[in-house]
Amino acid sequence: MTRHGKPVHNLLSPVLSNSEILPSMYLLWLDAPGIASSARPGQFAMIRCDDGAKRLLRRPMTVHTVEGSRIAFFYRAVGEGTRWLSRRRQGDTLGVLGPLGNGFNIGQKSRHLLLVAGGMGLAPLRFLAETAIEEGRCVTLLAGAKTASALYPADLLPDKASYVPATEDGSLGETGLVTDLVPRHAAGVGQAFACGPEAMYRTLARERASRPPGLKVQLSLEVRMGCGVGACLSCTIETRSGPRHVCTDGPVFDLDEVKWGSAPVCAL
Ligand SMILES: Cc1cc2nc3c(=O)[nH]c(=O)nc-3n(C[C@H](O)[C@H](O)[C@H](O)COP(=O)(O)OP(=O)(O)OC[C@H]3O[C@@H](n4cnc5c(N)ncnc54)[C@H](O)[C@@H]3O)c2cc1C
Ligand code: FES
Repeated sequence: MTRHGKPVHNLLSPVLSNSEILPSMYLLWLDAPGIASSARPGQFAMIRCDDGAKRLLRRPMTVHTVEGSRIAFFYRAVGEGTRWLSRRRQGDTLGVLGPLGNGFNIGQKSRHLLLVAGGMGLAPLRFLAETAIEEGRCVTLLAGAKTASALYPADLLPDKASYVPATEDGSLGETGLVTDLVPRHAAGVGQAFACGPEAMYRTLARERASRPPGLKVQLSLEVRMGCGVGACLSCTIETRSGPRHVCTDGPVFDLDEVKWGSAPVCAL
């Protein structure tokens, strides 16, 4: 149980597949029934990314999607832990603790959701899009990347999502940053959800006047995490209601709740 009283599973989960679907970006499927049945969009798991020899801390990974007892993670191999993860093969097992944190909060009355993904930001937003569509809501998904080869494969997204890609070099979809698309797509939506780099969040915070008044944006923050369960205090950020722990109070926060000062929020 977490300190919020939600059940958390600590499993040894068999790897079902682990494929490089984009350069250095992997889709990992695990058999993890307890986590799959209780995870909500925006929640994460702590995955042990070594065989014990190096004693690396577990690494946080967002739940990308679930299917029955199977759970997927979409990750980029950036350092020692995630490179080790990228070498796991079918039949290996991984220590997984989850689901953790507070996920996205979809308002009962929100019929149309705007999702904004920058780069790896698709990680939590695919599950959110699928859940919202299953609940009968409309979803517009804006996805940005530097170039076409770094854009998440559209055929893995739900058919019913209205998908609008953008690339910085113009190789696919609209030319420019994904945030440039927001004003054109924000009219009439009930809520907006974003995941991407800190620069994207700062742009969304700065350009709030370009969105309809009252349109709230929830975002998922990535910070260094030692434990993932509120014990080490390594993930503290400043918010308008005081210091908060990203692992137990987040990782989802309201854009306007976070204090976007001069120091980086997602200090990594
Ligand atoms: C709640 C949460 C959910 C996350 N979900 C995902 C996900 O779904 N997919 C994914 O690819 N990544 C995700 N991350 C980031 C992921 O945890 C890191 O990339 C990972 O911990 C890096 O470990 P490493 O041992 O490979 O890298 P390290 O060797 O520890 O570091 C290598 C590089 O990665 C950077 N890095 C380290 N930790 C993080 C971090 N937490 N976030 C971003 N960069 C980091 C370092 O600054 C450094 O440049 C998430 C992070 C959080 C907090
Ligand atoms: S990661 Fe340890 S308290 Fe948040």
